Amino acid sequence: MSTCYLNGTYQPLADARVSPMDRGFLFGDGAYEVIPVYSRRPFRLAEHLARLERTLESLRLPNSYSLDAWAAIVHEIVARNSWSDQSVYLQVTRGADTRRNHAFPVGVQPTVFLMSEALVTPPAEQLANGVAAVSAADFRWLRCELKTTALLANCLLRQMAIDHGCAETVLFRDGFLTEGSASNIFIVRDGVVLTPPKSHLMLPGITYDVVLELAAKHDVAHQVREILEDEVRTADEVWMTSSTKEVLAITSLDDRPIGDGRPGPAGRQMLAWYQEFKNTVMRGG
Ligand code: PDD
Repeated sequence: MSTCYLNGTYQPLADARVSPMDRGFLFGDGAYEVIPVYSRRPFRLAEHLARLERTLESLRLPNSYSLDAWAAIVHEIVARNSWSDQSVYLQVTRGADTRRNHAFPVGVQPTVFLMSEALVTPPAEQLANGVAAVSAADFRWLRCELKTTALLANCLLRQMAIDHGCAETVLFRDGFLTEGSASNIFIVRDGVVLTPPKSHLMLPGITYDVVLELAAKHDVAHQVREILEDEVRTADEVWMTSSTKEVLAITSLDDRPIGDGRPGPAGRQMLAWYQEFKNTVMRGG
C-alpha cells in the first residue's frame, strides 16, 4: 500500500482524510507539482520546488516549508514507497474554512499533501509508433503559467483526445500553438526544433527546459518563437514533453499524418539524449 504525507503525518494513502470544506475541494484553490523519480532520485527537484514557490506566490498562498524542508519530505515519501521509479505528486491548498466563501479565509492553515505512484513512462509501442493527437481551441484562463489544481479545462481537453482514441489534445489560441492539455509541444521544421516562448499562455515545463538545454548542448538548431497553427499541421515532426511522457512523438493530428506518420529522427535523437541525461541523475551526477 502506498504511503502519503498529509499535514505533517506519513500514513497509508487509504487512511488519509481531508475536510469537504477544504478549498482545494470547493474551489480548486491550490498549487501542485508532479516530480519524476528515477532509481529513487528525484529529477530536477530544485526546479520543481522553485516552480511550486512561484505558483504559491502568485496564488497568494503561504509556503508552509523552506526548500530544504520540502526536499526532505519528497525524499521521505520516495523512501517510504516501494517503487524504484516514482511519480511524486505534491499539492498545497488554501485549507479548510468553516464556511464557503470565495474570499481567502483568515488564520487557516494550508493543506499539504504528497503521494507517490509508480512512474509510468510511455510503453515501447508508443515510442516505436508515436501517438495520435487531436487539436482544440485553448479555452483555458489567462494564467496558464501557474500549476494550479484547478484543472477542469485541462481535463475536458484531455478527455476530448481520449474520446477520439488519441493520447493528447494540442491547443491553439488565436491561431498560435500554446501547449498540450498536460504537456508542452515542440515541432521540427526543416531540421530546426521550434517551441513557443514561456508566457501566461502555457505552463513552463521542467521537461521543456531540459529539452532546450539538450538542444543547445548538442548544437541542434532550435528557436523559441510563436508558432502558427499551420506550421504545426505541416511540421516534419511534433513532440509532446512532460515529466511522465518524457519526449513522445505525435505522429498524427486530427487524423492526418505528421511528416511521414512515423517518429522522426530528431525526436528519436532527443529522446536518446533525454534517457542519457536521466542516467546522470541516477548515477548522482
Ligand atoms: N503535467 N503543460 C501542462 C498543461 C502540464 O500539465 C504539464 C505537466 C506540462 C509539462 O510540464 P513538466 O515538464 O514540468 O511535467 C505542460 C503534469 C505531468 C500533470 O499534470 O500530471
